[in-house]
Amino acid sequence: MSAKIAPDNLREGWLEIRDLVMVRGTKKAVEGIELRIAPGKITALAGANGAGKTSTVLGIAGVVEPVFGEIWLDGRDLVGMEPDEIRRAGIGTVPEGHQVLRELTVRDNLLVAAGGMSRGDTNASIERVLALFPELKEKLPQAAGDLSGGQQQMVAIAQALMVEPRFLVIDELSFGLAPTIVARLVPIIRKIADSGIGVLLIEQFTQLALALSHHVYVMSRGRVSYDGAPGKLRDEPEILHRAYFPVSDAEAVGL
Ligand SMILES: Nc1ncnc2c1ncn2[C@@H]1O[C@H](COP(=O)(O)OP(=O)(O)O)[C@@H](O)[C@H]1O
Ligand SMILES: [Mg+2]
Repeated sequence: MSAKIAPDNLREGWLEIRDLVMVRGTKKAVEGIELRIAPGKITALAGANGAGKTSTVLGIAGVVEPVFGEIWLDGRDLVGMEPDEIRRAGIGTVPEGHQVLRELTVRDNLLVAAGGMSRGDTNASIERVLALFPELKEKLPQAAGDLSGGQQQMVAIAQALMVEPRFLVIDELSFGLAPTIVARLVPIIRKIADSGIGVLLIEQFTQLALALSHHVYVMSRGRVSYDGAPGKLRDEPEILHRAYFPVSDAEAVGL
């Protein structure tokens, strides 16, 4: 297989998604989007239910192969690689709905995520993620399924961090979690970004996304409808309103 030649306008150290098209079933769920994700910063991807956010995540993670487009990291196009290769290339993904292995202990969840790492590296990684989530320390011998939703989300994030990713993609950080729990996760996400990891934070509800990110993409119906600073969305809420309630929908329900 000959390596693809990288476009010359890629930014060094960034994760850049070009013209991504995702099909789910028979439907085009993502219709050619561009995302540029900076290292060491939080980039938000917001949008209503069904906008195509999760399909984008699955495409980045290699769980569903994109039908078109490129995902550039370090001069390599990751499209077509297996999920495991993509993880090793430096992209950790936290899937929607804090998916931990419920019957396994927290420790085993972390070990599973360590994949083919040496024992020494695995232990070092466990220490590293426990420093970020100290409350998981005492939960190590417990079945992950017995933890609270917030702690399960911590385990899911810790799993994605086990292989020291350069980018962390989190699909719906706050979904199903009480605001007090989300508030505990926020400084940890900031800390992760401050450590140099580029975070792509996917959120259906935008308040959190706007509060945390330096750059926001909003998706509606498979396309990027906003690409810019979070401040503008806070100042001009009608931009978000249009993205979440496209005019044709409003007309359809007689608004
Ligand atoms: N497994 C699937 N099979 C068929 N269609 C799907 C599947 N998953 C999602 N879709 C459709 O793809 C579109 C985008 O969904 P999704 O990417 O989950 O959006 P979001 O995460 O923004 O809510 C929606 O119209 C949804 O119904
Ligand atoms: Mg989703």
